[in-house]
Amino acid sequence: MRLRDLEPGDVDAVVRRVRDALADDHAHNPLISPEIDTATLAASLRATRESCLVAEEGDAIVGHLYGVVLAGSDGRNAWTGPDGWSGASEVASRLREAAHERWRASGVRAHHAWVRDDPTTIAAWLTQGYRVMDVRGLLALGASDEGGLELCRRSDVALALHFDALIDAANDESPPRGRARRTRRQALHELLEDPDTTQYVFERDGMALAQCIAFALEPTRATPLRTLHLSAVAVEPAARRQGLARGLVEAVLIEGASQGFTHAQVTWRPNNEAASHLWRAMGFRPTYAHLVAML
Ligand SMILES: CC(C)(COP(=O)(O)OP(=O)(O)OC[C@H]1O[C@@H](n2cnc3c(N)ncnc32)[C@H](O)[C@@H]1OP(=O)(O)O)[C@@H](O)C(=O)NCCC(=O)NCCS
Repeated sequence: MRLRDLEPGDVDAVVRRVRDALADDHAHNPLISPEIDTATLAASLRATRESCLVAEEGDAIVGHLYGVVLAGSDGRNAWTGPDGWSGASEVASRLREAAHERWRASGVRAHHAWVRDDPTTIAAWLTQGYRVMDVRGLLALGASDEGGLELCRRSDVALALHFDALIDAANDESPPRGRARRTRRQALHELLEDPDTTQYVFERDGMALAQCIAFALEPTRATPLRTLHLSAVAVEPAARRQGLARGLVEAVLIEGASQGFTHAQVTWRPNNEAASHLWRAMGFRPTYAHLVAML
């Protein structure tokens, strides 16, 4: 097996591999969308200035690995989406090894990848130093027009930061400070300003007890086209285990279905027990795991 950079003549073979990999993911988990615009993918692979490694055996491409390097407040990270890699276990492992070396040399601190959430697929990544950071879950929305709590709509950054801190605590993360806090505030401000985003709040006696921020997902490979993303779901500690999260999310899902969304998506930390229970109890099923390895 030979590893080398993607060349223009490889693009069609890589696009076919991505299409087949998504079809395989869909066969294992029908919530995963096999839809793919092959022309757009081919054009973006041809235009990319990021490196994409391919594995070749004889004349055949037997795997690929593509990571977009993005600068974040924690440094430079390489990101691989569900369509960013392919190959049997041994091939994929060699590609990761080679990519790690390359990224390390150019100052990338970590590799993040979305990998179908099934134990066999993930196992090979875990032996190479990856850990599961988040789980992405999907739910197909049915027609329902009852249930749920009466919600208010807000656009309140301070409130969003307050609930964010509750989520950080539940995820065993220290709250952002200094520049990271300002970046978080700015990101929340931009999110809430977006007309496609709604900050839903449940209030009792003028007190906000629970929150969910919902927005339409941009078309993302492997995710159904009309998917509502739920984020920042949190309940005040004194009001937990009274059905508020369930009632709030139910109300948001009913509204989402009435707006034409067919699916809802959420991500959670697997070590956040309350969140894992909540989402599974509400019918969300894991599709992909977000894996991360420090380089
Ligand atoms: C996760 C959270 C939102 C749940 O809110 P809540 O109002 O207590 O949840 P509900 O009372 O509506 O419970 C909903 C379901 O989750 C389960 N659940 C909630 N908290 C749980 C816990 N600590 N342990 C186990 N299961 C739990 C309930 O049993 C219930 O399932 P059921 O309907 O089958 O009985 C709340 O614990 C919280 O705010 N945590 C901190 C923020 C956070 O982690 N958010 C999640 C981000 S993904």
